[in-house]
Amino acid sequence: MTLKPRFLWGGGVVVVAALAVAVALMWKPAIAPITAPPPASFDAQTRLAGARVVALGDCIVCHTAKGGQPFAGGLPLATPFGTIYATNITPDVETGIGSWSLEAFTRAVRHGVARDGHLLYPAFPYIHFTHMSDGDISAAYAYLMTREPVKATAPANELIFPLNFRPLLAFWNVLFLHPGADVADASKDAQWNRGKLLVDGLGHCASCHSPLNPIGGEKLGHAFDGGVVDGWEAPPLNALGTAPKPWTQAQLVTYLRTGRASEHGAAAGPMLPVTRDLATVPEEDVQAIAAYILSIQKHEPVATRALTTDATLSPEAQNGALLFAASCAQCHGPHAPMQSIGERPSLAFSTAVNATTPRNAIQMMLNGIDWHGEDTLNYMPAFSQVYSDQQIADLASYIRAAYSQRGPWQDVEATVAKVRKENDAR
Ligand code: HEC
Ligand code: HEC
Ligand code: HEC
Repeated sequence: MTLKPRFLWGGGVVVVAALAVAVALMWKPAIAPITAPPPASFDAQTRLAGARVVALGDCIVCHTAKGGQPFAGGLPLATPFGTIYATNITPDVETGIGSWSLEAFTRAVRHGVARDGHLLYPAFPYIHFTHMSDGDISAAYAYLMTREPVKATAPANELIFPLNFRPLLAFWNVLFLHPGADVADASKDAQWNRGKLLVDGLGHCASCHSPLNPIGGEKLGHAFDGGVVDGWEAPPLNALGTAPKPWTQAQLVTYLRTGRASEHGAAAGPMLPVTRDLATVPEEDVQAIAAYILSIQKHEPVATRALTTDATLSPEAQNGALLFAASCAQCHGPHAPMQSIGERPSLAFSTAVNATTPRNAIQMMLNGIDWHGEDTLNYMPAFSQVYSDQQIADLASYIRAAYSQRGPWQDVEATVAKVRKENDAR
């Protein structure tokens, strides 16, 4: 016998074993459907606890289409790999999760596997939800199973090949999904541990506030360094001391619960719905989140320069100053009622105006802030139809020069054009 066949045989065993591992990873069994449990089978206490869990997890934000029924899905989520639609998680038997047992629901939340066994895309933040406690998962289940069932099927995803082949997600999960309960740090107090659990788990803050690698995973070692989501910059959460007025616990709690903070400005874009959810949970949860966030700071205050006076404004900024007087000063000027009675911050304290890039200031001008119920103080008109790219850029150059002690932004007009194009594509 020569060596060769034996070598081939050995190689064959390795290939077969590798295939067996791959198949085991890629194909998960279905969990048998159940008859939807009657709402009365869930006690009121658990449902109430579930409302809190569902608010902390922003489930309604992703699972509700614009103008659609709560939790009925259909909201498109733009990713670098195409569009993924959030699914219907009302208890409708045919199109929702009405036939899902608690076991199937738990597997989805912890491992990203649907009841029928198909792997779910990580646009659903199960890599964070995996740290939820059993109690929180069953409370969320009780809450969702007692909602009004809605018949609605999300449109088919539009993803690039080969990512439209779900079994491949198994390999992504090997890299980025680390299931297991969050272990409490005995050297820290209960509030800090609760905060960490909420931020890393249910609150999935890192999914927006961290940079992503080319395959859509959060960059290792860069948690909370800041990311870009839906065309908005989610600022670093570990550099809150670099703000013109460093964030305090009280300011953070107010920002997270009301969507604005007197020394920093307002939450807009994808952060606004997060704050609307956090407004509904007990304050102690938000205090815990704030305490934990303040404990992860790792950046010193940054160097500043003197504010630009009118005489030293660039030609672009001078043009911006005229537009500002016409369209913005009635709210943002020094004598505007919004500044004096509304406890509104001067633009000098705004994160958007002091950020490294003009992205969020541009988004703010293009989109404004929609009317929301009675909250008239938090309204800003949208200027996307009013001003050209050049004019928006001039306004950006002006507010940067007049209100921020940081250096001028570069390539502002090109950024306006880019942001507008991205917004139109969404
Ligand atoms: C950032 C957006 C986002 C948030 C927040 C979110 N989901 Fe989802 N979820 C999705 C998307 C997108 C899908 C569909 C994934 C797919 O089809 O692969 C999904 C799928 C699911 C599924 C599987 C349903 C099915 O029919 O396959 C369940 C269950 C689920 N989510 C529950 C929840 C719960 C509970 C919460 C809150 C604790 C939540 N989701 C929060 C985006 C989100
Ligand atoms: C869906 C994406 C998303 C999620 C989830 C999210 N954020 Fe944000 N966050 C943003 C964006 C975008 C901004 C910038 C908003 C703006 O400038 O108006 C922001 C702004 C903030 C700010 C203001 C920072 C500053 O320097 O001005 C804080 C604080 C914050 N988020 C905390 C949190 C915490 C805590 C969580 C988790 C409970 C969280 N965020 C979850 C997207 C998100
Ligand atoms: C009707 C009043 C109104 C007008 C007009 C208005 N804004 Fe605003 N703007 C607001 C409100 C309210 C906010 C939310 C911030 C806050 O609470 O102070 C805001 C926020 C902003 C922010 C982000 C600050 C932050 O919260 O971080 C920028 C930048 C901004 N506006 C620029 C402009 C510019 C430039 C114009 C003119 C083209 C303009 N605004 C016109 C009301 C207005």
